[in-house]
Amino acid sequence: MGDDERAIERAVDLIGASNHAVVLVGAGLSAESGIPTFRGAGGLWTKVGEPSMNGYEQFLRDPIRWWEHQLSPEADPARTEFREAIDRAEPNAGHYALVSMEKLGVLKMTITQNVDNLHVRAGAVRLVEIHGNRTKVRCIGCEARWPREAFDYEELPPLCPECGSLVKGDTVMFGEPIPPSVIDACFRESAACDCMIVCGTSATVFPAASFPRMVKENGGTLIEVNPNPTPLSDMADVTLRGPTGELLPEVVKRLSYWTI
Ligand code: OAD
Ligand code: ZN
Repeated sequence: MGDDERAIERAVDLIGASNHAVVLVGAGLSAESGIPTFRGAGGLWTKVGEPSMNGYEQFLRDPIRWWEHQLSPEADPARTEFREAIDRAEPNAGHYALVSMEKLGVLKMTITQNVDNLHVRAGAVRLVEIHGNRTKVRCIGCEARWPREAFDYEELPPLCPECGSLVKGDTVMFGEPIPPSVIDACFRESAACDCMIVCGTSATVFPAASFPRMVKENGGTLIEVNPNPTPLSDMADVTLRGPTGELLPEVVKRLSYWTI
């Protein structure tokens, strides 16, 4: 048995023995669906620079301008290219492997930082989208959500029919608080979690990057699946070095034997 094989077996043992396994996902999971990551070679932020930290403040100050910018693709070609990659993308073997783990009953929750809707399209049910979902819009007052197409955007800014507050894209902007129900779910799941599988994230954006640390501090185990090292690698009990689209299906194959 090679080192990789042994690492997969150890991951399967940890997941199989857990009571509340949770996955934390980042952009790497969707890389094999053709969506560029944010950091590293070819990453969106590598190309265009990180967005300003006061993006949300700017939205609050001038929501009409923000919406006009959103609605005009020529305003921001690099982001438009990114959005088009998302629109073309299909879930990959990694997304489906996580859904299989959910169906086997071993995976209790997926916390994803991805906004690309691919978990939903792959069939995930137990899902928290900590950075939102770009196919949706959200009221900043009462947290109601609708599909993007629910508004016609003829009058800007769109306002919540329930409470009259501003409506923005559901994607969480830099400087924007994570919506309360979402952050509560993340902390609740991380507190209950005794085995966290960290997939395709650089683990550099907080609060998401704090969840695996929290699990570790509570005595839980950590499995990392990523072709590259991250600040979590030294903390991980098992590291699977490679693409999630290849390694997660290997884990699932063996978990299925474990759970029958
Ligand atoms: P990053 O771009 O920071 O990190 C992507 C990670 O994916 C890196 O660690 C890569 O090594 C890894 N990776 C690349 N290809 C992979 C593959 N095939 N399989 C598995 N892993 C692979 O993306 P995130 O960690 O998701 O926020 O970034 C976190 C947040 O920063 C994002 O949600 C986004 C961004 O600002 C918002 O949009 C609000
Ligand atoms: Zn509202």
